[in-house]
Formats: sequence, C-alpha cells, structure tokens
Amino acid sequence: MRKSIRGGDLITLADVSRDAIVEVLDVAESFVEVNQRSIKKVPTLKGRVVASLFYEESTRTRLSFETAAKRLSADVLSLAVASSSVKKGESLRDTISTITALGIDAVVMRHMASGAPWQVSRVVPSIRVINAGDGQHQHPTQGLLDAFTIRQVLAERAGSRGSETGSELFHGLRILIVGDIRHSRVARSDIAAYLALGAVVTVCAPPTLLPADVSSWGVELSTDFEAALAQADVVGLLRLQVERGSGAFVPSLREFTSLYGLTAERERLLQPHALVMHPGPMNRGVEIDSSVADGSHAVIERQVSNGVPVRMAVLYLTVAGGEGDMS
Ligand code: CP
Repeated sequence: MRKSIRGGDLITLADVSRDAIVEVLDVAESFVEVNQRSIKKVPTLKGRVVASLFYEESTRTRLSFETAAKRLSADVLSLAVASSSVKKGESLRDTISTITALGIDAVVMRHMASGAPWQVSRVVPSIRVINAGDGQHQHPTQGLLDAFTIRQVLAERAGSRGSETGSELFHGLRILIVGDIRHSRVARSDIAAYLALGAVVTVCAPPTLLPADVSSWGVELSTDFEAALAQADVVGLLRLQVERGSGAFVPSLREFTSLYGLTAERERLLQPHALVMHPGPMNRGVEIDSSVADGSHAVIERQVSNGVPVRMAVLYLTVAGGEGDMS
C-alpha cells in the first residue's frame, strides 16, 4: 500500500493507503478556498506542462482536470484525439513518445482499454501519469472526489472542517452502490476509497451486472434494493455502460428502471439525512428520476464542483511532489 501519492503516478486507488487518501482530501480542502477567490490561481505548477489526452469522451473529468492544471499555473497541452494522427493509425506508444518529446511533465489520460495508463507509465517513467478513467478498471480521481464530497457534507453537518474531523466520519457509514457494477470503473475506485476510509459498502445490481469476482471485493451484496435504500446513509447510482455492452445484460431499460431505478416513489424510502450521488453523465428516467437528481438528497452538482480542487490536489501531490507554493 502506498503511504502517499507524492511524486508518483496515480493509476489506481486499489494500492493507495487510507493515509494517502486522507492526504489528498486534506490538500483538496485547502484548494477549495483558492477556487472561491476572485482570482482563482496559484503559482504551484508554474513552468510545468500537463498534457491532456482523452481517447474516450468526457465532459466533467476533462474540463475539471484542465481547469485544475490552469489554476495551478501549469501550461496545458490538450490533444484532440478525434482530429489527431491517432486517426491515421498512430499507436498509443508513438503518440506518447511524440508528446513527451514536446517536453511535458505529466499526462492526464483517459482510454477505453483497461491498463493503458499503466502501459504509458512503463514506457515513459520520467513523466507523471494520471489515470482519468481506463476501460472498466479504475477512475481514481472520481473515487477521491466522491469521498471528498461525502466528507465535506458530513463535516458541515457536524459543524467542522473535513480535515479537523479527519475521516472518522466514514466509520460505519453505510454506502449503497446501485447499477452496472460489472462495467463500472467508478464503482471500483469508489469502493477502494470508501473501504479504505472505514465505510460499509453494499452493492445492488441485476446478477448479470455484478462482476464474477465481487465476493472478493470486501462489500456486502443486496438483492433487495428497497430494503437497502432504507438503511443507506449514501446512495451512489451508476448508469448502464452501453459503450461497454451493458445493454446485452438486461432485458430492457424499462425492466432495469422498474427494478433498480431510483424513482420519486423509492426516494421516499430514504432516511432524511441520506445523500444521493451520481458521477455523471446521468440517464434521467433510467437509473434516476429527474426529480430525484434535482431533489433535496442529491449532491450531484457538488460532486462536479469538487472535481476541480480534488484534481488540483492530485496534480500538486504527483507533479510537484507536494512541494511548492500552494497559496
Ligand atoms: N464522471 C465522469 O467521468 O464524467 P465524464 O465522462 O463526463 O468525464
């Protein structure tokens, strides 16, 4: 288990210790204040170059990483894969060698193939590699920002800052994750973060949308969605990953919604304090009703906002090694 991500890559949360996760959340909290200033910029990564390389579609992750790098004063090289030489058949290895030759310090990458960021980290160990989502493997910064969001809300309710109460707030917290667990890199990263912080995690999905090795994940399984909802402190919803073939694992969207959708009717089963989360993009009317997504339990917009300070913290710790002016 890594005690810190300082100076290293961030490919997965599966090998990151509780202390290292708490360090990211604490650093992110100090960057929240930077994001509230009229001039939202610090010199932390001045002179460094961060490349943004997205082989798969993204709205939230790409925008928040590029915003985070710019707010840290890094220069950002953004490769538009769809109009790049990738379309002429250039390999990942040659693309990475090319952008490395331009003099970059780090690459933030999303790829449809599980393991692609790990391969890049082996080919170019001199640059920092940050995984922005690889296949169905991991989406580590989503796991960190989801944990940060939960800690932030719980700390506010307790009348403290997250870094003051530490992450004790997670102990015994019941977190329910519902939907396409099988194909979800978000589920894998969320679960790694939540378990490391001491939460009790339950997953609920059609049996076909559970991975074969789920019994080794350290989570509880529920087949009774409504009973699990009534016990949950946090409910994380996942969309069906149609681009990874999930449509073949359920008879129809309507059937999925009727059994596993968080409808307005089911929302009434939630405890008053329960949080509803979704990493986005949402399919309103499928895994979540529109009224629930915009309702009083939802912290979905806050998840998006927190993407910037959490990704600033990850860039600061990995690229700058946690050294330099943060203010
Ligand atoms: N949550 C998430 O990864 O969203 P994007 O695909 O829009 O980046």
